[in-house]
Amino acid sequence: MAKNARAAAKKDAEAVQRCILPACGAQFEIREALLVCSRCGGPLEVELSSDSLAHHTNLKALWASRRGSLDPRDRSGVWRFRELLPFEESAPVVTLGEGNTPLYDAPRCAEYTGLRSLRLKHQGCNPTGSFKDTGMTTAVTQAVLLGARTVACASTGNTAASLAAYAARAGLQCAILVPRGQITAAKLAQSMDYSAVICEIAGNFDDCMRLIQELAGDPSMYIANSINPFRIEGQKTVAFELLEQCGWKVPGHVVVPGGNMGNSSALGKGFSELMDLGLIERLPKLSIVQAEGAAPVAKLFAEMNRTGAANASEISDTLEPVQNPKTLATAIKIGSPVSWRKALRAVLESRGQIITVSEEEIADAKAMIGRDGIGCEPASATTVAGIKKLAAAGHIRRDEDVVAVLTGHILKDPDYAGNYHRGMLSLGAGEKKPAEHRIAGEFQNPPEQVAATKKAILESLKRRR
Ligand code: F0G
Repeated sequence: MAKNARAAAKKDAEAVQRCILPACGAQFEIREALLVCSRCGGPLEVELSSDSLAHHTNLKALWASRRGSLDPRDRSGVWRFRELLPFEESAPVVTLGEGNTPLYDAPRCAEYTGLRSLRLKHQGCNPTGSFKDTGMTTAVTQAVLLGARTVACASTGNTAASLAAYAARAGLQCAILVPRGQITAAKLAQSMDYSAVICEIAGNFDDCMRLIQELAGDPSMYIANSINPFRIEGQKTVAFELLEQCGWKVPGHVVVPGGNMGNSSALGKGFSELMDLGLIERLPKLSIVQAEGAAPVAKLFAEMNRTGAANASEISDTLEPVQNPKTLATAIKIGSPVSWRKALRAVLESRGQIITVSEEEIADAKAMIGRDGIGCEPASATTVAGIKKLAAAGHIRRDEDVVAVLTGHILKDPDYAGNYHRGMLSLGAGEKKPAEHRIAGEFQNPPEQVAATKKAILESLKRRR
């Protein structure tokens, strides 16, 4: 057997797909084309064997050494960590140079949330402007390995834009299902540009997700939503990159927005794998923030606290969906998240929280992130809003080392930012009396009409200093 083929066969044998439901736990081969457990319908995850990980020595040094390399895999912030990915050395990697995103200090946000310091990991600085790219590089690589012709997803906009781009790179047809009129113009424009087949569905995201699960039965179709464990594999590398940026000093708390719950699941998996490998000595607390009007998992979590349930196996098997989710953070306007079990498990294991924030809180936190010169899309700002609440409630200490994960770029939703600063942001847009639902932002910064003279400009500056 050639050396490469031997290495490939070895890596394949080292990883399996496993049903996460304790009552089932079925195991499948790593290249078996599955979306969910074929025995019980439960969610799958990739499991790397501990034997396969044991023979890697000094991973931290190996990963760091790749930073100066010209190999496209080393230039990717995902494939740079490929020892922990379920692919062989010869895998036909589909990459746009994703990952390698900045970790910023945010002093104004720190003050706003009542903390001494706060850092923001900006996943919106990925090639298509959202964190989805770190998962699409691995999902589309797996699609190519499986010989898929069409890749598909349901989306509130970012998954669609990301899949469309990676499918275009791989030369695959891309079908996306989006809720008509409920995704931002920028996200839709990206998907059009990346030549996806866009199906606008009369319904919400949860309807699109239901349809995608029906389409999954078609053998030509490869589904790239985060229910797909290969998406999670790519997205978990954010935990590795973050820890590397922290000099391997584990933050006290990492806070993420929650929509379909893939991101939180992935971060939880990433941190756990680092612990299993002995690369970190403890887990950071992982907390999830949902928008008040789209918060089924936060509701379940609050009920668990009331009933004293301590772990995921003690909670009900079903999540009560929010039938008509509402939020201006359209990215997370989701009432029935598919990855809630994995996310809940990660939060419970790390002793984090799942909370909600209001539309006003999201909007003001977003403006505060902007004041730090960073900016993000509304869904990302749930984190800073949530940290303020968690600190006020005593779940985060003032001197704790906290990281918020920003998930999307500000230019994903410029209308939201413009409307906020002009005092026009309203949850009732499209309704008869939008003014009744208007959000009175605390940090508005509207443009001002100024006469075309030096004097008028200087006066305007003085007035608004
Ligand atoms: N932030 C942004 C900007 C998102 O686009 C999403 C999800 C989330 C947060 C929530 O992450 O779903 O992993 O819990 N967007 C998906 C989409 C649903 O279709 O683009 P999650």
